[in-house]
Amino acid sequence: MTDQTLTVRDNRTGEEYELEITDGTVRASDLGKIGKTEDEPGIAVYDPGFTNTASTRSSITYIDGDKGILEYRGYPIEQLAESSTFLEVAYLLIHGELPTKDQHDAWVHEITFHTFVHENLKSLMQGFRYDAHPMGMLLSSVGALSTFYPEARAITDEEVRHDQVVRLIAKMPTLGAWAFRHAQGKPYVYPDNDLSYTENFLSMLFKMSEQKYDPDPRLSKALEVLFILHADHEQNCSTNAVRSVGSSDVDPYSAVSAGIAALYGPLHGGANEAVLRMLKRIGSKDNIPSFIEGVKKGEERLMGFGHRVYKNYDPRAKIIKKAVDDVFEVTGVNPLLEIAQELERIALEDEYFVQRKLYPNVDFYSGLIYEALQFPPEMFTVLFAIPRTAGWLAQWIELVDDKEQKIARPKQIYTGARTLDFVPAEQRWA
Ligand SMILES: CC(C)(COP(=O)(O)OP(=O)(O)OC[C@H]1O[C@@H](n2cnc3c(N)ncnc32)[C@H](O)[C@@H]1OP(=O)(O)O)[C@@H](O)C(=O)NCCC(=O)NCCS
Repeated sequence: MTDQTLTVRDNRTGEEYELEITDGTVRASDLGKIGKTEDEPGIAVYDPGFTNTASTRSSITYIDGDKGILEYRGYPIEQLAESSTFLEVAYLLIHGELPTKDQHDAWVHEITFHTFVHENLKSLMQGFRYDAHPMGMLLSSVGALSTFYPEARAITDEEVRHDQVVRLIAKMPTLGAWAFRHAQGKPYVYPDNDLSYTENFLSMLFKMSEQKYDPDPRLSKALEVLFILHADHEQNCSTNAVRSVGSSDVDPYSAVSAGIAALYGPLHGGANEAVLRMLKRIGSKDNIPSFIEGVKKGEERLMGFGHRVYKNYDPRAKIIKKAVDDVFEVTGVNPLLEIAQELERIALEDEYFVQRKLYPNVDFYSGLIYEALQFPPEMFTVLFAIPRTAGWLAQWIELVDDKEQKIARPKQIYTGARTLDFVPAEQRWA
């Protein structure tokens, strides 16, 4: 044993145990040896929400919340957002390293030529009610993809796995755009293989009667940046859902649809919508001081500020702030931007926010961009799910290849009744 150990004394028995510390963690199975007898289980960890439990080793995404650092496979998010493309970042996440020119071209070609979906899937989507939430449509249609590709069950066959990864990344924009068009009663637009990933997405969203959609490069670039920023964020709720469901060896379509379901929840993917509502309610710069006073009294929260992990400026928020200018150059300035900027200026100087390390997070400005691009709030989470699919798949592959992983099956502390005698209904009701 090295000095990297933890000595634990069980005061119930006086026995001492030495647990190995590896990478700042002790193994739960080692804790399980403490106090274990034939009749009694050993010590377990109680950790609702997994706030202090590592569920995996991972080499995909690194976050240092105190310093405001986010890296994909070791590359800083700022550099990727500045100089890479979403598909190159997706390759990096999935394969672990940047592509050579040939690998890149083959990857982009494959993704581009798998953007079409089976016509029956289109019929399935058309069957939804006119006011169906696009996230509900997305998660059902991704789940349904598993029925079109039954071979996807061969999750350890690398070639089969690769095909499903390509299909999922390729088809997500098609399904997301169709869910958007559905709510508007507009015809679904087929993919255009001459366009880039984000240009094609814009075309499927907004094309009308023109022969060819001509996306504004500033908008497709802004979307590219937003997609890169949202591509992965290590073990968050939806990634954990993908891993947990994937641990049963189900196909990737079913595992990713579980991730979409987790992202649908307002605590995960819905904060940017709340920021927009807040800005609209504040209405003008004059109302900011009284709003901030209300926040400081604990009457409400400044949405888009604060983060469970980042106790510094969220690196993604800095990048989005730059993208805001490009988008507004095309769409005209949204008056809510002035309110957001003034809110940020005041909050960053105010002792309440400084002391609590509350900085703008990724959602503070993203809703403004999405609104400027004419997306209704229900679509905001779809715009998150499309790029996050690359991260979910990278995490899923890592899970499948990890010999240490088992089917996810947490313990519980049972608090209910025991050994009651069942009385048949006719006697209880007599
Ligand atoms: C993201 C969030 C849930 C993280 O919460 P957390 O890490 O559990 O932090 P806590 O809720 O423990 O907050 C710590 C302190 O800061 C305050 N605080 C946190 N976020 C705040 C906010 N957005 N506005 C005002 N006060 C806030 C809390 O009231 C608490 O103050 P106290 O110590 O006086 O009680 C939280 O910051 C939040 O609700 N932010 C707004 C919603 C949002 O933007 N979510 C998107 C995240 S990407």
